[in-house]
Amino acid sequence: KILANTIFLGKDVHFLPECHSTNDIALNLVRQKQAAEGSVVICNHQTKGKGQRGNFWQSQAGQNLTFSLVLRPDFMDISEQFYLNMAISNSIRRLLQEYVPRLEVKWPNDLIVPGFGKIGGILIENTFSGKEWEYAVVGIGLNINQLSYDSPYAASIRSITGSHFELEELFRLLITQLEQGYIQLKKGKWKEIKSEYLMHLYRIQNWAKYSANGEQFSGKIVGISAQGKLEVELGNGEIAIFGLKEILFL
Ligand code: BTN
Repeated sequence: KILANTIFLGKDVHFLPECHSTNDIALNLVRQKQAAEGSVVICNHQTKGKGQRGNFWQSQAGQNLTFSLVLRPDFMDISEQFYLNMAISNSIRRLLQEYVPRLEVKWPNDLIVPGFGKIGGILIENTFSGKEWEYAVVGIGLNINQLSYDSPYAASIRSITGSHFELEELFRLLITQLEQGYIQLKKGKWKEIKSEYLMHLYRIQNWAKYSANGEQFSGKIVGISAQGKLEVELGNGEIAIFGLKEILFL
């Protein structure tokens, strides 16, 4: 199937009826030099989907979108990787916000609809040649039509809106939007990418409860550091900085 309205993304689509993890397949293709930048691996039933923090990404056969993009961000340094995360989550949010009431991104890149739950996630895995960052495999899982989940925090566009969505059409639109986001990154529009990300960041500038080092506290998310860490204002006015495994949202 051809995604005719893009320049490079999705020109080469590997469609699999069933697989363990599209990220693993894409990583293998890249290592065997069988996937060029822009290749996409998509599978109808992903049985061992990988999530952030070693979690399992659950997805019922034929109900959702589970796919991975092969990108080669050789114009940036690995330390700047979070800009890629932000560009990707902006692109997905731009498209999906057409269908759901209020879509926000929960740091680092959970797509959530407040009051309903998480409808999507992103897992980026990198390959290196020596010390050089070679490829980024961008894994995207979006809950579209699945109605029930093991996790009480999961939702889908259908469980929220009641409407059934055509996966192929949505996939095509997503690829177009993702390519635009990636081109924006490649053009160096980093300020714009970050401010768009912050504009839709869940809990930005709101006081809320967190836990870190086994302690609960109130904090206010005020920004993201250059490395993609979360900047949280504490009750005493100080700004604390947290990495991925260092803070829990309560
Ligand atoms: C998260 O935990 O929020 C990230 C979830 C990422 C899931 C996607 S589904 C397609 C790709 N292949 C995988 O094994 N994981 C990602």
